[in-house]
Amino acid sequence: MNPKQLVGEKATEYIKDGMIVGLGTGSTAVYAIQKIGQLVKDGLKIQAVPTSKATEQLARELNIPLLDIDQVRSIDLAIDGADEFDPQKNLIKGGGGALLREKIVASISKEFICIADLSKSSPVLGSYPLPVEVTPFASELTAYLLSKLGCTPVLRTVNGTPFITDNQNYIIDCKFEKIEDPATLTIKLNQIPGVVENGLFANMATRVICNTPDGEIQVI
Ligand code: 5RP
Repeated sequence: MNPKQLVGEKATEYIKDGMIVGLGTGSTAVYAIQKIGQLVKDGLKIQAVPTSKATEQLARELNIPLLDIDQVRSIDLAIDGADEFDPQKNLIKGGGGALLREKIVASISKEFICIADLSKSSPVLGSYPLPVEVTPFASELTAYLLSKLGCTPVLRTVNGTPFITDNQNYIIDCKFEKIEDPATLTIKLNQIPGVVENGLFANMATRVICNTPDGEIQVI
């Protein structure tokens, strides 16, 4: 089994009947969602909140009962991938551009399980460019203000035009050298008015499930 499938399916073992489950976005989360679809088919009773339009579509195809985010006030368990994680379970997310909805869901989740293959592990965050969702209005000014925080900002594009998020915003990928203090940087990033949300998930993951070099599972 490939590492993404291994960790994605492992996370579903934490789901219990009656739970409201946050469904993450990305290729690792897809494995968890497919497994949840199978469990639902086999009789598991849950309701789920998707973190992107792509995940919503997949969940519908799998007949997973869905709730709109505005119908819930808390989520029992969210399962989502990451682009990088450190030993303190701080994460960089948003490589797939879904960071705003992912963070909203994670922020109200009693348990937030990050599923990531070992290649995403890093002693200090910063290898992966930090995705920051920004308003299209003043995006160049916002990029300049982001650069003042010590990063190299690059507007994410697809075929030469700006990548548009599910929330009709842009993503600026910010390459920092090392992110030594994710919690403080999160606050500084979100103080820039054109920033909608950033992909640093500091102190949010309750567990990280990843593989070992031997193909076993480790839970951090
Ligand atoms: C999407 C995300 C994803 O969870 C992250 O990019 C990891 O994706 P993948 O599992 O495909 O490597 O944050 O916004």
